[in-house]
Amino acid sequence: MRSLLVTGGAGFIGANFVIYWTRKYPDDRVVVIDALTYAGNRANLARVEDHPHFQFVQGDIGDKELVQSLLVDGKLDTIVHFAAESHVDRSIHEPDAFIQTNVNGTHNLLKVARETWLDSDDAPATHRFHHVSTDEVYGTLGPDDPAFTEETPYAPNSPYAASKAASDHLVRAYHHTFGLQVSTSNCSNNYGPYQFPEKLIPLMIVNALTGKPLPVYGDGSNIRDWLYVEDHCRGIDLVIDRGRVGETYNIGGNNECANIDIVKIVCAAIDECFATRPELCAVFPDAPAAGGRPTESLITFVKDRLGHDWRYAINATKSENELDYKPVENFDSGLQKTLGWMLDNESWWRAVLDGSYREWIAKNYT
Ligand code: NAD
Ligand code: TYD
Repeated sequence: MRSLLVTGGAGFIGANFVIYWTRKYPDDRVVVIDALTYAGNRANLARVEDHPHFQFVQGDIGDKELVQSLLVDGKLDTIVHFAAESHVDRSIHEPDAFIQTNVNGTHNLLKVARETWLDSDDAPATHRFHHVSTDEVYGTLGPDDPAFTEETPYAPNSPYAASKAASDHLVRAYHHTFGLQVSTSNCSNNYGPYQFPEKLIPLMIVNALTGKPLPVYGDGSNIRDWLYVEDHCRGIDLVIDRGRVGETYNIGGNNECANIDIVKIVCAAIDECFATRPELCAVFPDAPAAGGRPTESLITFVKDRLGHDWRYAINATKSENELDYKPVENFDSGLQKTLGWMLDNESWWRAVLDGSYREWIAKNYT
């Protein structure tokens, strides 16, 4: 049995992980610490609020006393670290918060973990600090380059990627120097329920349903490797359960696709939904599909992102061989689940869009 501190558990992947973990390990204790930034949403955890071993604490991972009291008083033995500023476009406009949370915040967690788990007399017998990172630390690939392995040298290109790379190095150093029992996973682009609609797939779905342009950066040829969020959660579970201490593991979805193709697939899936469920026309009257027009008509090519990485691709052979990791969803099945969830949870994304996200967009994009 484990007692977990899940940082950033009210965000997209963190919330999916808490739902996954409490369902699979109902006797484990799960404490979430989340600052509830623009990306954090207590509603994401509604399904676990009544779980007997679940606790939510609003707070900053940079708050040493708070993190210490949670680890010590709760006798927690595992940290699963998701909390981060996570959006590349925001890191281009306002990088400071990325350094504060992703670098300094991670370092604060490592310091407290070290003090509590290594330097204290009543430390738990075993502990684990699992750090959730990204493939973006490896930089960008050309069309014929082999996919990223755990041995690929780091070459982060955006302030976001650089801040995650710095945090990965700190995690590694706390293992090498102090013996903290760490693991790190570097994953590709996630999609699924509860994803904040500033990221590509939920943004396209929301804009398509509300009749707004679908902004494709540059020529849309950039390639990402899409991973359904529950497959990612399963991968993290395997790393925590079977992964070797001090190691890093790549987690991918085996689904490389150009952005323009992803957007067209999303458009076709929406058209198909409206064709088979005509009642959607009354719910989303501004969607082109409600008027019998193709959703693709909303695609608009816009100015490219600064420093836009061209291609990411994950080689997950190490996770497959050592952990028996394999993604369950292909892109079609994952998209059907994601789109179905978005259609059934209009109130969730409407509330998100009515909040601070709109203010930020207004400030930075008008
Ligand atoms: P997200 O932006 O949806 O959620 C981040 C959460 O962290 C939010 O709930 C936010 O309130 C919280 N948070 C931010 N700063 C905090 C602070 N100082 N203290 C406490 N909580 C704070 O992000 P996500 O997409 O769920 O990503 C989770 C992790 O996975 C991140 O570390 C990210 O780098 C990594 N990752 C994400 C993807 C992806 O496709 N989304 C891909 C690879 C890696
Ligand atoms: P995003 O979801 O922001 O993830 P990341 O930058 O971490 O890969 O973007 C995925 C890809 O989609 C990326 O190449 C940028 C592109 N993109 C668009 O073309 N239009 C958009 O509106 C957004 C948000 C992203």
